[in-house]
Amino acid sequence: MPRLEPLQSFKLGEDCLKALTELPSILDEIAPMTPRQKHELGRSVRSLWEDLTSEKEHRTAEYLSSPADASAYMRYFLPWNLIRLASIFSSLPLQLDDGASVMDIGSGPLTLPIALYLSRSDLRSKRLTFYCADKTERILKQGQNLFESICARVSGALSPWKIVLLHQQFGDYPPEKVDLVTAANVFNEFFWKSKAPLGMRASLTARQLLGYLKGLGSVFLMEPGDPRSGSFISAIRAALSTFGALPAAPCPHVFACPLPGIFRSLETPGNESPTVLGAKHFRELVMPKRREKYPWCHFTIGTGATPPWLKALSDEAGLSKEKLVFSYLLSTVPAELPQPGNQKSKPGGQSFTRVVSEEFPLPGRLLGRYACSAEGYSLVQYPPSGRKPSSGDLLRTPFTSKDHVIDEKSGAIIVSY
Ligand SMILES: C[S@@+](CC[C@H](N)C(=O)[O-])C[C@H]1O[C@@H](n2cnc3c(N)ncnc32)[C@H](O)[C@@H]1O
Repeated sequence: MPRLEPLQSFKLGEDCLKALTELPSILDEIAPMTPRQKHELGRSVRSLWEDLTSEKEHRTAEYLSSPADASAYMRYFLPWNLIRLASIFSSLPLQLDDGASVMDIGSGPLTLPIALYLSRSDLRSKRLTFYCADKTERILKQGQNLFESICARVSGALSPWKIVLLHQQFGDYPPEKVDLVTAANVFNEFFWKSKAPLGMRASLTARQLLGYLKGLGSVFLMEPGDPRSGSFISAIRAALSTFGALPAAPCPHVFACPLPGIFRSLETPGNESPTVLGAKHFRELVMPKRREKYPWCHFTIGTGATPPWLKALSDEAGLSKEKLVFSYLLSTVPAELPQPGNQKSKPGGQSFTRVVSEEFPLPGRLLGRYACSAEGYSLVQYPPSGRKPSSGDLLRTPFTSKDHVIDEKSGAIIVSY
């Protein structure tokens, strides 16, 4: 079987690399640090990291309004998030027409609009409106200056995108309904504060997210790739589907998620979830071998292309990185809902496999990665020589369902690549 080129892969383009290289000098212009802040930057990064990655609920409400935290965020968290987001956006099936509008929730220093600008030259000349909302006003203003400076450095011109800053909480609405609602690294900050069952909270959140859309439109979410965030993404995916927003990426199918982490069901006793699609759309797939916590959907990319200054700052903060992980979801309300039995495949009438996990050795001198397909939890195996699939690759599935061979250890369908 010849190894086929992936149809989609994570990639970091030239413009993003240029912006990352020049980021310190841009930030020195628009948000200069005092000598003391410069001296303490490594320590400030470390302390903000500890705050953001803890599950404590004592984080100050507007933590990014402090100059030290804002500097630490823009010089450490923003560039790493730019790399994650720009890598996803490079092949995301996202369409925005001239005149379209976007709501970015928890925009912070506008990381997501900047990543979209850097990774999608096809969108740069479009007249788009971005409503950038955050509960902290100061970081939004710094983000707008950063966005404008990056556009000028990368394209030598101002962007036609209209940026509207909104000092708002999640649940507040922009002046108009939008075509795309986005949120990156936001829900992990407050979603888990509620103690209601995961499925119930996911349904409520999905309804709120869809409330931002004009009717048709898309929702894009990215979260850190930890088990909790992966379970959140799987639960939101299911909840959005019940309201008619079907998963478009990374999922290669619209059926139940075979990498759901701790998420089991939207339904709680006595409360059946409403569905826009019939039950036939949610057929069960091959699941991983039964266990309390299933694997969660998350992707891993290398940090080889990272500029030396970012590596140095990360080392100084004691946060050296060899890989970046994340979970993400694009769900879209289609103009017409697909017919049951007609969505095994996408796009274009074939079956696809999304490579998910990191690489690991298999018996027989083979290598493997766990993956997802319309058949269910899969294990892509391949020899160590020649082209190897990477986390995030979308492949054409080289088999039909009658050929299933199940890996005894994991319960995954074995797919030879
Ligand atoms: C980790 S930062 C992410 C910023 C940016 N999206 C990124 O990916 O780099 C989280 C942002 O969400 C904002 N935030 C947290 N809870 C929020 C809420 N309930 N409503 C609006 N913004 C919120 C914070 O102020 C912060 O700017």
